[in-house]
Amino acid sequence: MSPTDTAVPDADRPMVDEKRRKKIDKRRTFAIISHPDAGKTTLTEKLLLKGGAIHEAGEIKARKADRFAMSDWMTMEKERGISVTSSVMKFPYRGYEMNLLDTPGHRDFSEDTYRVLTAVDSVIMVLDNASGVEQQTEKLMEVCRMRDTPVITFVNKMDRHGLQPLDILEDIEESLDLETVPLSWPVGMGDRFRGTYNLYRDELHLFSHADMEGENERLPIDDLEDPRLDEALRDQADDLRFDVELVREAGNELDVDAYLDGQQTPVFFGSALSNFGVGDMLDTFVEIAPPPQPRPTVTRTVSPYEKAFTGVAFKIQANMDPKHHDRMAFVRVCSGEFEKGMEVIHHRTGETLRLNNATTFMAQDREGVDTAYPGDIIGIMSHGRIKIGDSFSEKEPLHFTGVPSFAPEHFRKVHLDDPFRSKHLGKGLKQLSEEGAIQAFRPLRGNDYILGAVGELQFDVTLDRLEDEYNVDAHLTGAPYECCRWVHGPTEDMEDFESAERGNLFRDADGDLAYMGLSEFRLERTMENWPRVTFASTKQHTAEDE
Ligand code: G4P
Repeated sequence: MSPTDTAVPDADRPMVDEKRRKKIDKRRTFAIISHPDAGKTTLTEKLLLKGGAIHEAGEIKARKADRFAMSDWMTMEKERGISVTSSVMKFPYRGYEMNLLDTPGHRDFSEDTYRVLTAVDSVIMVLDNASGVEQQTEKLMEVCRMRDTPVITFVNKMDRHGLQPLDILEDIEESLDLETVPLSWPVGMGDRFRGTYNLYRDELHLFSHADMEGENERLPIDDLEDPRLDEALRDQADDLRFDVELVREAGNELDVDAYLDGQQTPVFFGSALSNFGVGDMLDTFVEIAPPPQPRPTVTRTVSPYEKAFTGVAFKIQANMDPKHHDRMAFVRVCSGEFEKGMEVIHHRTGETLRLNNATTFMAQDREGVDTAYPGDIIGIMSHGRIKIGDSFSEKEPLHFTGVPSFAPEHFRKVHLDDPFRSKHLGKGLKQLSEEGAIQAFRPLRGNDYILGAVGELQFDVTLDRLEDEYNVDAHLTGAPYECCRWVHGPTEDMEDFESAERGNLFRDADGDLAYMGLSEFRLERTMENWPRVTFASTKQHTAEDE
């Protein structure tokens, strides 16, 4: 085959000028994933400090504390100014434009947490060195795996005693099925933590317990036999030599393609609290993490370098004026250039929107606040008309895929306090389902609503919003389900399946059929009994829903 056979025809090659290509290639859109308390907030703060987006340690922590301190959700939501701005944190770093998307965690863990991961190009995974891979990280990684999202790992809290570094690597490999490649190696831990050795630059970074916030001393050395190592590390120098030799002999080589394919994770060790190892990780991150990637649509893949603007809504946040069903849709720019005031087509409704009041999330003190490029996030105000997964473009009708619904993990039954409000309840639940706040199901047999959520707080939010926005008083009781799957299959099988499993079947707000299992075991048995039926843990919004 001659080289011309594989070349992309000129007509299909997106036109892009160099200036715009550079802007796109310098963007890094990412999220930090972790189990609660591993250090995500602390690391976020250090990244923002490095980028100059905040000026004092403690600002992000204070916000987190505020959110916890608020007892009821509506109070928290009234402070939405805070949650909206902290949803997307933009900051410059060494000539790169960083878009850090917040993944709600802890108490406010929700389907949004998963969906944010569909809008990023890569993630930084933070592990607590005392616990290794924990349950929430595993769940988040499952979502990353759906798109083979590249992952860089930061093993945190090395200033405290924890698991042996080799055991942590083994844990990552086994629990997450990711090949690990350490790029830095710790010298001791806890009281004996002396620093990290950068395996690629042959550089020793010294840690000082006395000066936790200080810029750490870097000691370039010729090789591991360099006597300066003994001077700096004394009795721990030989341990380091032994470890590094072992890691170099038995460990994996960095393979950037394997990282980009989501198969290999570079690993750094450090202490976010003392800002140690963070810069090392971030320098590698900007260098190897992917710039904005092409995004699939139902008809074709859209390149970020294409001239025409396109975007997809991945999160919807109820806004300041609930009575007007005011919402802000978070839209990831997928191609072209966003300009304030431009007109775009909202493809599901066919309406043309003029984006005058769109919010751009900008780094501080920067020019051109009214434009955004692929990888950036813009906030579009809508009065309840935008659904999760909706696509926007200048003219070509496109339907982006890849922003699915996720099978709920918690379930409740809805009881209406005033039976005359049942129509309003139906309307409220439909709208709240469309914006992804909750999932509402109705059984094939009976009329009750069953709510499904990924995080428990979604239930409180739903009740508050039903009362506040739809004037519906309701309360919830437990529902006996443990898992849910969307089901489909060949018509003849589905007819038998539906009559045999009727008692466990529901329709969601789009009318799609879902099976609810009383236990994981029951689900597995049912799957075995119906091999031709597909049980899906995610649901892609298709054109038929529209
Ligand atoms: P999260 O967002 O992942 O939930 O974690 P967060 O950053 O809030 O950190 C959880 C706790 O771990 C905090 O302590 C934080 O100070 C501590 N921490 C984070 N990074 C490090 C580290 O590198 N070394 C050590 N020793 N501790 C670390 P806390 O007691 O819950 O809060 P605070 O009172 O310190 O603010």
